[in-house]
Amino acid sequence: MTSSNNKIVVLKLSGSLFFSESFERVVEAIKAALLETPELKVVLIAGGGAKAREYIKIAAEASADQATLDEIGIMVSRINAMIVASSLGEFTMRRVPETLGELVESLSTIRVIVIGGLYPGQSTNAVGALVAEKVKARRFINATDVDGVHTKDPRKFKEATRIERVTPRRLGKIMGGESMRAGAYDLMDPVALKLVERSKIETWIIKCEPKIIGSALLGKRVGGTEIIFD
Ligand code: UTP
Repeated sequence: MTSSNNKIVVLKLSGSLFFSESFERVVEAIKAALLETPELKVVLIAGGGAKAREYIKIAAEASADQATLDEIGIMVSRINAMIVASSLGEFTMRRVPETLGELVESLSTIRVIVIGGLYPGQSTNAVGALVAEKVKARRFINATDVDGVHTKDPRKFKEATRIERVTPRRLGKIMGGESMRAGAYDLMDPVALKLVERSKIETWIIKCEPKIIGSALLGKRVGGTEIIFD
């Protein structure tokens, strides 16, 4: 995002972080980055993770429609957001904003805001891109359970190799078969990709690990993939 000169960084935390052993260490890494850079402000987006998928599966079996399933995913991501907010102490507020307006207002006085999902039909990655656009963030960091974008899904194919830099167009092609079903949006859903492209948001896709997240918040990229623009 070219017009950005502020110190706001948007960080999407993979839903896989919740109920994992690295949760506390990731929180510590975020706190350390905030202490090291007093002017840094962060919007954290909590993913829904396995719990969201569990609830979505049960509701789908009970014949809930896709919009309702998305709403269930949003609720679970907000619970995860509350957990993150509770662990950040004085850096943040406990309340989880449910609209962009509320978020922007809170960010004017508070250094860290934690949110979950916003609207049906997208993933929390799209929330990250939308927030980055709205607050003219310096950077959108998408911390996922894989180390960036690969030529193929590295969880399924051993021969997959990491791509250092990728344009939104190439990324769209790589994710060609991306699902738009509740609970199944992946790395960057189509909404997220469109937003990143239209506002040329500086975006890094990195692994959701404490050291990597700490470095990324301070502007140092370790591994992962950067989205670049033609
Ligand atoms: P996530 O985007 O977190 O999905 O939201 P996920 O698959 O758990 O992502 P990871 O694990 O963080 O990478 C869970 C579900 O909530 C709904 C979607 O159905 C999504 O799959 N959701 C979330 C929305 O409909 N809108 C939102 O703004 C956010």
